[in-house]
Amino acid sequence: MAAGARVVLLGPPGAGKGTQAKLLQDRFGACQISTGDILRKAVAEKNPLGQEASQYISRGALVPDDLIVNMVAARLKEKDCEPGFILDGFPRTIPQAESLDAILQREGIALNAALSVRVPHDVVIERLAGRRTCRNCGSLSHVVFSPPKKAGVCDRCGGELFQRDDDREETVANRLKVYNDQTAPLLDYYRQQGLLKEIDGVGAVDDINARVLAALGGAAK
Ligand code: AP5
Repeated sequence: MAAGARVVLLGPPGAGKGTQAKLLQDRFGACQISTGDILRKAVAEKNPLGQEASQYISRGALVPDDLIVNMVAARLKEKDCEPGFILDGFPRTIPQAESLDAILQREGIALNAALSVRVPHDVVIERLAGRRTCRNCGSLSHVVFSPPKKAGVCDRCGGELFQRDDDREETVANRLKVYNDQTAPLLDYYRQQGLLKEIDGVGAVDDINARVLAALGGAAK
């Protein structure tokens, strides 16, 4: 398993975790583990995990911890995670964080940092309403902030851009509530471990990336 960058990204829906995770992945040669992306792929494939998960995702609730932890444990064993990993959307509950600690402890490694991206409510709503994702390569764009050259077509691979079902207004409201109730307590969890770094997530993507790298400092190599 991983030897280099070992980072958890925290933040509400639409904070820009996926956007920054992709940049960190390139920078550190680490794998990006987005539990949301893995689940959405399973839903699209209609496999047993996807069939179980879709009922939770569609209403903005969390998928049960045991399903998620097994999924992440398996992904961490893959070759591309050997140089390090950027966890995007995991852990999301205290039991998930405790399970991650146990998995890493068994491997004799530890997290370098848990980085929280702070973004106010109104910015989150704006970002989610305009988000578009490539069905083929997963690239992210935004109809206002980073529009594709051709509407509906991914700049990177020419794939079809789509809007996530759970970015509907009523589902977003529930995702934000779930974040506050179940995920925000992780800030204290990682603060107590001396791992928490917090950055302002408002501004241009590149400026935020510079803040992320400065906050990680020597934590991720
Ligand atoms: P998941 O896919 O993890 O969604 P999320 O955490 O709600 O986060 P998002 O993907 O919505 O946002 P993001 O912070 O990555 O922002 P992004 O970079 O895309 O989870 C979905 C569901 O799966 C959950 O509700 C749950 O059901 C289930 N699930 C997943 N993990 C789970 C777990 N561990 N346990 C249980 N259940 C789980 O950016 C958003 C938009 O803003 C984009 O359009 C982007 O281009 C734009 N943008 C980004 N940065 C900027 C910027 N600086 N300026 C302007 N625009 C920007």
